[in-house]
Amino acid sequence: MTNKDFQTGLVPNEVYKVEKFGNSFKLIDTKDTKVGTMGVTTGTRKKAFNQGEALQAYINKNGKKTYRRVSMDVYNSLVVPMNTQSGGVQFEDSSDHKAIKEFIHNGSVQLRPTELVMTDLKWKYLIRSAVRAKNIMMTGPAGCGKTMAAKALVKSLDRPDFYFNLGATQDPRATLIGNTQFAKDKGTFFSESSFIKAIKTPNAVVLLDELSRAHPDAWNILMTVLDQGQRYLRLDEAEGSPIVKVADGVTFIATANIGNEYTSTRVMDRAILDRFVTIEMDVLNDEQEFGLLSYMFPEVNEDDLKAIAEIAHHTRTQSMSDAGKVTSMVSTRASVEMAGLLYDGFDLFESAEISIFPFFSNDGGVDSERTYIKQLVQKYVKDENSDPLFKEVETESDDEIPMF
Ligand SMILES: Nc1ncnc2c1ncn2[C@@H]1O[C@H](COP(=O)(O)OP(=O)(O)O)[C@@H](O)[C@H]1O
Ligand SMILES: [Mg+2]
Repeated sequence: MTNKDFQTGLVPNEVYKVEKFGNSFKLIDTKDTKVGTMGVTTGTRKKAFNQGEALQAYINKNGKKTYRRVSMDVYNSLVVPMNTQSGGVQFEDSSDHKAIKEFIHNGSVQLRPTELVMTDLKWKYLIRSAVRAKNIMMTGPAGCGKTMAAKALVKSLDRPDFYFNLGATQDPRATLIGNTQFAKDKGTFFSESSFIKAIKTPNAVVLLDELSRAHPDAWNILMTVLDQGQRYLRLDEAEGSPIVKVADGVTFIATANIGNEYTSTRVMDRAILDRFVTIEMDVLNDEQEFGLLSYMFPEVNEDDLKAIAEIAHHTRTQSMSDAGKVTSMVSTRASVEMAGLLYDGFDLFESAEISIFPFFSNDGGVDSERTYIKQLVQKYVKDENSDPLFKEVETESDDEIPMF
C-alpha cells in the first residue's frame, strides 16, 4: 500500500470479458454477470472482443479508473469454478449439490468436443472427478486419446490451467522445483519453476502429461504433492527444508501409457498410482474408428476410411490375443494420420507405408510383422479394384514394358 488513498496500477480483481449482444459489446464480470459498459468506450470494448482479450480496471495517477486490455487468461483465472472453497467436496449446501449433479449429468455432455470418442459414462466420470477435486489418471495404450481427453476436460472446466509434459523432461528437479541461478546484481538466487507457480494458483488444473515416462525422481518429488493428506512440495531433500503448499482446489490430471506396449514406459510405482482415480481410455472398435475418421475427413473415399478402420481394428485384436500375428497395434493417432495423408492425395499403400509400417518390426524377414502388415494392407489395395488380374498385369508392366 502507498500513502495515497488510492493505489495506481491494475486492480487485481476487477476484470471483465466482452461479449457481443446484437450490435453492442457488453462487459461480463468474473461471476458471469452482465454489467453493461462500465463507461468503457465502444472502441475499446470492440477491440478487446475482436482480439479475444479481457478488460482490467486500472487506476491512474490522478486516481481515475480506466480500463486496459489484458489476456483472457487473467479473466479465466478469476472465474470461480464450482468446486472451489474447501478444495471441492461440499455436500452441506444442497442447492450446490443439485447444481453439481446437474452439471455432471447434463451440462457436461455438451462440453465434450464432438471429435473426442469416449463413452458418456467415462466423460461424466471424468467431469465428476474433477468437480470433486480428485487427482485423475488417464490410462491406455499410446495414441488412444488420453492427452486429448485430458485437454478437453481442462478446457471444459474453465479454470486456470497448466501443462507439463513429464515424458520430455530430462531434469525433473529443474522442471518441478526450479533452478539456482546467478546474476551480477542479485548474486545467487533461486528461480522457482512454473510448476511451483501452478500449484500455488488456487483452483488450478495441472496436467501432468506422460507421467508414466517421467524420471523416477519426478515421481518422488510429486509423492507429497499428490497426497491428499500432505499436499506440499519440498524444495530440498533435507528434513526441515522449506516447503510450498498446494493451494486450495488445485487438481492434477495425469496421463500414463499403460496397455500392452510397456516398452518405453517405466513401471510406475504403486504408491504414485494410489494417489489417483484411474480412468481407462477405451481402444476404439472398427465402427467407432470409421465413425471418427469419416467425421474428420468427410471428403475422403469411404472405402479407404473403412479399410483403415479395419486394418487398425485387426491389429488391435491380434496384438491383444496371445497367439496374435502382431504385437503392436495401429493407434487411433496413426489411423487419423493415415486418413490425413489420403486427404492430401496419397494412396492407401503410401499412407500406410508412412503412418503404420514403422510400428511393425522387420525382424524375421518374410515372416516379420512388417511383412504381415504389408500383406494385410495390400489386400485392401487390391480389393479396391474389382478385377485383380488387371491389377496384376498393370503392376508388372509398370517398370519394364512401356505401355501405349
Ligand atoms: N478416443 C479418441 N477420440 C478421438 N480422437 C482420438 C482418440 N484417440 C486418439 N485420437 C486421435 O489421435 C491423436 C492422438 O491422441 P492423444 O490424445 O495424443 O493420444 P495419447 O495421449 O493417448 O497418446 C488425437 O489428436 C486424435 O486425432
Ligand atoms: Mg499423450
